[in-house]
Formats: sequence, structure tokens, C-alpha cells
Amino acid sequence: MKLYSRMLVGGALAAAVGLSAIAAHAQAETYPTRTITMIVPFAAGGPTDVISRIVTGHMAQTLGQTIVIENVVGAGGTTASARAARAANDGYTLITGHMGTHAASVPLYPSLAYHPQKDFEPVSLLAGTPILILARKDFPPKDLKEFVTYVKANVEKVNAAHAGVGSVSHVSCQLLNSILDIKPTGVPFNGTGPAMNALVGGQVDYMCDQIVNAVPQINGGTIKAYAIATPERNPSLPGVPTTAEAGLPAFQAQAWNAIFAPKGTPAPIIAKLNAAAVKALDDEGVRKRLLDLGSVIPAAGQRTPEALAALVKGEIEKWTPVLKPATN
Ligand code: MLT
Repeated sequence: MKLYSRMLVGGALAAAVGLSAIAAHAQAETYPTRTITMIVPFAAGGPTDVISRIVTGHMAQTLGQTIVIENVVGAGGTTASARAARAANDGYTLITGHMGTHAASVPLYPSLAYHPQKDFEPVSLLAGTPILILARKDFPPKDLKEFVTYVKANVEKVNAAHAGVGSVSHVSCQLLNSILDIKPTGVPFNGTGPAMNALVGGQVDYMCDQIVNAVPQINGGTIKAYAIATPERNPSLPGVPTTAEAGLPAFQAQAWNAIFAPKGTPAPIIAKLNAAAVKALDDEGVRKRLLDLGSVIPAAGQRTPEALAALVKGEIEKWTPVLKPATN
């Protein structure tokens, strides 16, 4: 009798599991049937926001649904990432994460409310974003060598803007400052969109920012660019020397932005989102907009969820020993 009732319970459980698998499959088949929210963990107008809007604008056409951008700011992008990690895993809430939120935050926040690997499904890498050393346009040093001498001599009075602890701008300048062996005052903003406004307005001295945010300002002459921290010059800024050319080869930095979904989002939904992102990255109009802003468009092999998972793993391993001993 006991065995019989156990068999009945077991059978009912198996049927329930089977039914929910069928329901999930059916849901994935018709996905998406309503508006998708893309959380951007920084202020509007900054690099993550700009890249997200360019790519999701095209993805929305492919998916046949609107993708609304929601800027959720705070704590270097970790507030938004924690929220995205806890969202329903149905494909209707996604996040554009980056090198900071999905790698550098791990060593920098001992009580991080999410783990980039355990709490997210990687969807697709969107863009590589080289880092530049930028300054307000009337900052005295005229080239990188003078910048190094100046900030070392005036470390008590210079300040560096960033988008919060663990953001790309924070982590990149931590690296630069450790190479120069200086600890200037950091000035946090909710994103490098507002930080760039402060740099243009002359309220802060320098910043290490992603190229996407800097090209229009550099070309408009509203800020100074001392160097780009990549091995080659960028076609969107042919006049800006590399850090190696400008005398500081040790400073190399390139960030990245990518789409993630909450853990457990069904595989067929991840596949649809990935296909839409890949299609966007192959679109001539999208490519031109990204390239004009200096982004590096990932090659086909770098756009798979598996490649993004490997990137996140590698970046956490890379940044953990570098950032663990650093102070904020
Ligand atoms: C932003 O969009 O504001 C950034 O990606 C900020 C950063 O991480 O430096």
C-alpha cells in the first residue's frame, strides 16, 4: 500500500515536471509576446546606455517587440545587476553588463548580492570599448609625459572622475594610478555620462573612460585625450596616440559590454535573443554607428553565449588579483 501511494506521488510529480517543461517550451516558442526591459546599470547618455540603445533598437525589429531601456543607477552598476539577477527568468528582463559589473565587482565587493557566473545566463557580447586617458580641456599638461609628471607632483589637489566603485572608469584609473603610484581623490558619478558633463564643464580634472563616450567630445574639442590604452590607434580617433607611443606602455585597458539574462532563462529564449543580437551586429547601420564611436565589434566566434561565459570567467580571474589589494 505504501509502495503504491509512493508510486502515485512519484507519477504525479513526473507528470507535473513534464507539464511545466512543455509549458516552458511553449512559452519559448511564442517568445516574445510583450515588451522586453533592458536594464542599463548606469545613467543615460553614457557608454553602456549608448551601446545598449544602438543594438537593442535593431534587436527589437528582429524580435517584433519593443525593448525599453531602464537606467538603474548606483554602486558602480551593482545595484542594477543585483536587481536583474533576481528578476523573473522569462526573457522579459535583461541587463547590459560590462567588465565592471560582471567581473571587477567580484573582488571589489566582498558582499556582492549576485555572482556574474552563477546568477546569469550569458546572451551575447556586444562591443569592445578601448579606454582613453582624458582630461578637462584646460588641464595644464599638454601630453601624456607631462600628465604623468603633473599628477605625481600635484596628487594632493588633482581629482579623477569615475562611475562608482567597480565601474570601468574606476577600475581603469585604479590600474593607471597604481602604475603611476599615486592616489588622487576620486569623484564618483552615476555613470560616465554625467562624469563627462563634469569634465567638459571643468569641474573634475581627469578620467579613464570608454571610447564610445569620448569620441564626440574629443572631436568637438571640449576635452583633452592624452592616449588610448590599446596596442593600436583607433580609426575613429586617428590623432590620439597609443599609451605605448605616448610613453606609458604599461597602461593597457579595454572594456566590453554584453547582454545577460537571469539564471534559468530557457535555452530557446537565450537562443532567440542571441540570434537577434548577432543580426544587429551584422547590420551595416548598427556597425557604422558602433564603429564611428570607436567600438570594437566582436567577431562571429566571440558572440556566442559560450564565448561570453568564457570571457566572464577569464576577466574575473584577471581582475581578482589586481583589484583585491586595491583600496577605493
Ligand atoms: C556608463 O555607461 O556610465 C559606464 O559604462 C560607466 C563605467 O563603467 O565607467
